[in-house]
Amino acid sequence: MGDDLRSVLITKEQIDARLAELASGIDEAYGGRELLLVGVLKGAVMVMADLARALSSPVTMDWMAVSSYGAGTQSSGVVRILKDLDTDIKGKDVLIVEDIIDSGLTLSWLLSNLGSREPASLGVCTLLRKPDAAKVDIDVRWVGFDIPSEFVVGYGLDYAEKYRNLPFVGTLAPHVYGG
Ligand code: PRP
Ligand code: MN
Ligand code: MG
Repeated sequence: MGDDLRSVLITKEQIDARLAELASGIDEAYGGRELLLVGVLKGAVMVMADLARALSSPVTMDWMAVSSYGAGTQSSGVVRILKDLDTDIKGKDVLIVEDIIDSGLTLSWLLSNLGSREPASLGVCTLLRKPDAAKVDIDVRWVGFDIPSEFVVGYGLDYAEKYRNLPFVGTLAPHVYGG
């Protein structure tokens, strides 16, 4: 894995197993109704691809691109829409798919933005969640793993756009980001 990574935090096998559990919970909760999965680019691409294939429910997919980090490791608090949804979500059962909830700023913003478009329901599934997210009052029903506040990469998560293609979630060596 090279010198840039410190350790593997969550293996590919652990991710697969947890996504299978989440998918069966989601299938049960929606009772066979069609789900619109809204992936948040770019981090959520891997979770979206694997969760969608683990679900038995009929799904459609749409994508939103927002960014709060830029190239750094700190959330700036400014959420920008880089790409909006292609479809109208009014009356649909919408499930936001995220790779990680860190400060919770991105998700809070997304929930209010998408919530105002009158979906039939609006849920969230995230692979990872950090403790800071608990400071923001967001109800997230589907969480893969609660992880410590370390900088993590892989499985969609980047540092300066790199490492998204790692099949596992790893922690980054502090020297990489000057920590
Ligand atoms: C990351 C991550 C989440 C968000 C979480 O996205 O993928 O979308 O930050 O952080 P928060 O809870 O503190 O708001 P980023 O803005 O880095 O864009 P990316 O998905 O393209 O990497
Ligand atoms: Mn993201
Ligand atoms: Mg990022």
